[in-house]
Amino acid sequence: MIRRLALAVLGVFVLGCQNSAPAGDEEGASAADSSGGDTTANAPTSGTTGDASEARYTYYRDTKAILDKHCAICHRPGDVAPFSLETGEEAQMFAGLLAPAIEAGTMPPWPPSSECNSYEHDRSLPAADRELLLAWIDEGAAIGDPADAPPAGPAAPTIAWDLDMPLPEPYAATAAPDDYRCFVLDWPEDQLKYVIGFDVAPDVRPIVHHAIAFLIPPSGVPTYKNLDAADDGPGYSCFGSPGGGGFSQQWLGAWAPGTQPSLDEKRGIPVQPGSAIVLQMHYHPMAAGGPADQTRLKLKLADSVEVPLHVIPFTNPNWLSGDTMKIPAGEPRTVHEFEVDLTGFLGDFFPQAGVKNGEPFVLHDVSLHMHTRGRRASLELDRAGADDVCALYIPDWDFSWQGGYKLREPLTVQPGDRLRLTCEWDNSAANQPIEGGVQVDPVDLFWGEGTGDEMCLSILTISPVH
Ligand code: HEC
Repeated sequence: MIRRLALAVLGVFVLGCQNSAPAGDEEGASAADSSGGDTTANAPTSGTTGDASEARYTYYRDTKAILDKHCAICHRPGDVAPFSLETGEEAQMFAGLLAPAIEAGTMPPWPPSSECNSYEHDRSLPAADRELLLAWIDEGAAIGDPADAPPAGPAAPTIAWDLDMPLPEPYAATAAPDDYRCFVLDWPEDQLKYVIGFDVAPDVRPIVHHAIAFLIPPSGVPTYKNLDAADDGPGYSCFGSPGGGGFSQQWLGAWAPGTQPSLDEKRGIPVQPGSAIVLQMHYHPMAAGGPADQTRLKLKLADSVEVPLHVIPFTNPNWLSGDTMKIPAGEPRTVHEFEVDLTGFLGDFFPQAGVKNGEPFVLHDVSLHMHTRGRRASLELDRAGADDVCALYIPDWDFSWQGGYKLREPLTVQPGDRLRLTCEWDNSAANQPIEGGVQVDPVDLFWGEGTGDEMCLSILTISPVH
C-alpha cells in the first residue's frame, strides 16, 4: 500500500516535471532544463571555478557520497525502493521529490529516536549531511564535474559464512500487497554452536520487505513441522510471529532492506543440535503470482564465545489472555504500559539465560514489536534511585520497518531497576489496513497472532554480568 502511494506520488512528480519550468525561478528552471539533457550555464559540467552563476554545491563534489551511503543502498535498480538514486542524473531528476522525505525524516528509514539512545549500524542521516542535501536540492541539484567524485570508500568486509541456508523451496507470493510466510529450516549442526554473525540475502529483492529468524529449540520443532505440513505449498502462512503459541521460540535476528550483516566474535546465541529455524518472510508484491523467491539466511558460527547471549520476550503475561490489553474500536489513542523488576524472576522463567534470581544482567540488543495499528512504543529502564534511561523509542511505528538494535553501550540492569514497556495504538477508522482493496472496519483488538490482533512486546538480548 505504501509503495503504491509512493509510486502515485512519483507519477505526479514525473508528470509535473515534463511541463513545469517554474517561471521566474532560475534555479528551478536550470534543474528542469538539465534533467532534460540540456547543458546550461547554471548546471556546470566542467570544473571551472569563480563563475558567479556556478552552483555552490554539486552532486559529484558534495552529495554523491551522501546519496551513495544513505540512499542508493536501497534506491538502486532491482532493489526494494521504487526509483534509483545511483547516478547524478537520477538524483537530479528526482531531486524535487527528495526534499519532503528528507525534511520529514522518513528517508532513510531508521525508526529509533536518536534522542533515546545510540545503536550500532545507525542508518539515519547526520544533521550536516541532511542540511547539505537540502541546500543542494534547493539551489537546483547541479551535477557538476565527474572529476570531483569522491574516492570509492573501502569495500565492505566480506564475511565467510558457515551456514548459507536457502528457503527449502522457492515460493511465489499468493497474496498482494502483503504475504507473510514462514519457512522451517533444519539445523544442520550436531554439536552446540553459537551464532555470532547474521545476514539475510533476499532473492527477489523488490518484494522482500522484511525477514525475521526465530530459533526453535528441539522440543518445539514438531509443532512447526506440523504447521508447515498442514498448509499447502512451501512453508505456511503466519503473521507477526511464527505461530505455535507460547514463547518457546527465540528471536535470532531481524532483517529489513538496508540492514548490514552483523558479526561479533565475542558474543553469540547458543543453538542446540536438533533445533530448527523458522524464517518469517514479509513479501510486499504489487501482485500475487510474481517470480518465486528463495531468500537465503547466512550465519557465522563459533564453538565458544566470551559472552553467551540469550534472547527473551518481555511483556505483561496478563495481556496474552482475556481482555487486559483491550484496544477499543474507533479509539485514536490507547496506551498500555507494564513495568517490573525483571531480576526478580529471570532465573525461574528463562533458566537457559544463566542469570539467577536477584542477580544483575546486561542488556545488549533491544527491539519492539506491535502489529499494524501500533502508533509508537518505548522501552525504558527506571533505575532505582537514579535517572531513568531510555533504551529504545520508536516514535512512529511502522510494521514494515521492524528491526533489532544493538546498544552502543550495553546497559546493566540491577536488582531494584524496573523495565517499562509502553505501547500506543491508533484504532480509529482511518488507521485500518486495506484487505482485498477495502479498508476494514475497526473492531476491538486484543493480543493475538493474526492480522486482526495486536501485540506489545519487547525483545531483549541479555547476558549474565561478566
Ligand atoms: C533502507 C532502504 C532505504 C533507504 C536507505 C532509503 N530509502 Fe527511500 N524508499 C525506500 C522504500 C522501500 C521506499 C518505498 C516506500 C516505502 O516502502 O516506505 C522509499 C521511498 C522513497 C521516496 C518516495 C516517497 C516516500 O517518502 O515514500 C523518497 C522521496 C525517498 N525514498 C527518498 C530517499 C532518500 C533521499 C534517501 C536517502 C537520504 C532514501 N530514500 C533512503 C527505501 C529506502
